[in-house]
Amino acid sequence: HLPALDYRDGALHMEQVNIDEVVNHYGTPCYVYSKQAILDVYHAYSKSFASVEHQICYAVKANSNLAVLGVLAQAGAGFDIVSRGELMRVLAAGGRADRVVFSGVGKTYGDIEYALTQGIGCFNIESISELALINEVAKTLDKTAPISLRVNPDVDAKTHPYISTGLKDNKFGVAHQEALALYQQAATLSHIEIVGIDCHIGSQLTEVAPFVAALDKVIELIQGLRDNGIELRHIDLGGGLGVRYIDEMPVSIEDFAQALLPKLSELGLTVFFEPGRSIVANAGVLLTRVDVLKPTAHKNFAIVDAAMNDLIRPALYQAEMAVIPTVLPSAGIETADTQTWDIVGAICETGDFLAKDRLLSLQTGDTLAITGAGAYGFTMSSNYNSRPRASEVMVAGERHQLIRPRETVEALYADEQLWQDAP
Ligand code: LLP
Repeated sequence: HLPALDYRDGALHMEQVNIDEVVNHYGTPCYVYSKQAILDVYHAYSKSFASVEHQICYAVKANSNLAVLGVLAQAGAGFDIVSRGELMRVLAAGGRADRVVFSGVGKTYGDIEYALTQGIGCFNIESISELALINEVAKTLDKTAPISLRVNPDVDAKTHPYISTGLKDNKFGVAHQEALALYQQAATLSHIEIVGIDCHIGSQLTEVAPFVAALDKVIELIQGLRDNGIELRHIDLGGGLGVRYIDEMPVSIEDFAQALLPKLSELGLTVFFEPGRSIVANAGVLLTRVDVLKPTAHKNFAIVDAAMNDLIRPALYQAEMAVIPTVLPSAGIETADTQTWDIVGAICETGDFLAKDRLLSLQTGDTLAITGAGAYGFTMSSNYNSRPRASEVMVAGERHQLIRPRETVEALYADEQLWQDAP
């Protein structure tokens, strides 16, 4: 399941690059992404949906490094953004504003103004007050705002509660029953142009059934809109397709497409998707060095130089991600000194773990790769404990390139000021 990674003569490679060379060049902790792996998934989406007009809007929040955005922009991708900052990144990376959809429940006046000025493709609207605000900003700028309504189809995505978004208890979207009235209201507004309909039901979905259930609900609404004289140009099914971290068996992009295409073809609308995780997760690893081995009577702890500030998914969602050595012990993964280890960071919190109960043969100074770390890894990292954020590297063929240097500690407090007592 990790197409960009394999062992050659016992050494982990990403594409044609020996990972040890990356470690020697850039140190650890370090995120490494495969350009080819990113493009392969992007192309799997566009191929699988080739029979309908479509636009893949990569969800920037999953991994927003300019190099990643640039590779996707060059391939023709659109983008799903949730802030002015993400739009600025997309534009800095060469992405086109007219291929961007703007999601999120709390867009501010400034966000909307910037997006309209840049010529945003569509605002995915989540409430009546947002609709009014967008109309007002557009009027001030003498522009027309293209909008789509994010409907909450009330289907169970069967994923972790923190990343499930399509239930009526969630803060997201407009209830199915209220959608028609809100569209009718939108149709009366002078500076609003209705262009689409949108839903996103959650993240890391492994089954196709919830997507189909959500699509059925959205199609019902599209019929209702047509009956009321409201015609759309696109339907946006959000993101959410899961990936394999350890032993998950997510539906493949091809099967996902096969399940949805019969219904989508009949609609005659352009189909948008907003995938994040599925495009970048397995294109990336986080490299970390074993600093201290601490066997205790109850547990064995391997303390590594990455921590929850670098990768918070295990601490926040109890996410399980695979940990593999960058150099195989000569006798293979399981040797005489294989033991069960908790892989933990050096931060002062019990929640600071990256993996639990992993069978590994470890020595101080070894490098480990945490796989599946290309999505929601660096973008969720922080400076907790005054730890500089990791470096990021991209690999393509035989080349590797630094795409973000490791932060310096000095930079972390460079803009801070000592309190000045009154003279
Ligand atoms: N569109 C919208 C409106 C979203 O809210 C999201 C993700 C996506 C698209 C992309 O979903 P994806 O294809 O990546 O599943 N930090 C969590 C995941 C949070 C997802 C938030 N929304 C994690 O690390 O598991």
